[in-house]
Amino acid sequence: MIGIFDSGIGGVTIFREILKSIPKGHFIYYSDSINNPYGDKSKEEILTILDNIVTKLIDMGCLIIVIACNTASSIGVSYLRKKYPQILFIATEPAYKMVHDYNPQGKTLVMATRGTIESEKFLELYHKYDNHNTILLPCIGLAELIENNGNVSEYLNKILGQYKNIDNVVLGCTHYPLIKTEIKKVLSNVTFYDGAKGVTKELLRVLKKYNLNYEFAKLEIHFIDSSQNKFKEKIFWELLQ
Ligand code: DGL
Repeated sequence: MIGIFDSGIGGVTIFREILKSIPKGHFIYYSDSINNPYGDKSKEEILTILDNIVTKLIDMGCLIIVIACNTASSIGVSYLRKKYPQILFIATEPAYKMVHDYNPQGKTLVMATRGTIESEKFLELYHKYDNHNTILLPCIGLAELIENNGNVSEYLNKILGQYKNIDNVVLGCTHYPLIKTEIKKVLSNVTFYDGAKGVTKELLRVLKKYNLNYEFAKLEIHFIDSSQNKFKEKIFWELLQ
């Protein structure tokens, strides 16, 4: 059983990419919407939340856990790997390396939560691939708006309006690929980069390395939402289509 979690439905942007490669896997998707947003919480709060989710997923039989959240990954993956050495954790990170690989000269905007942008793990990645033409933009409150179906366009006009001639946009939060259309309305012709393909590739590599069976007779997906909001489940299945 493969566990996948995020602070809500954003992790679906990772999960649907995983399903293209593992169409008959057995998955549990844990949407922790009651604790959304993670991005503005302290490290201690996030680690407590992660312990709680990981313990639940282990109890349900997950040996491999995909952290489909940039914030939780950048703040908590080293802690989790140390505390639960029997579990294989796959982390998500802002796809800044892809800019380096595909368009290093381009003017780049990294959008992520404050927690991700201020994390040591992200700053290490940023300094490694810095193209000296990058703006780091903490989007405080954006994941929460997306999660709760708020007025995203108004928010984007306010925070993105000042950025002109951007070529690359790194979507450093798994909720953000859900609003590409709205971002394009403000920034026009930009190229997006997100972590979904990278996570899927790493998951497959780890499954093969440890010889774990991930293809069954049919696809099984078990959905859990921590706020027990039925509406979340409806959105989840719609987004997965
Ligand atoms: N989807 C998240 C991420 O990738 C979490 C956003 C939040 O809860 O603040 O960072």
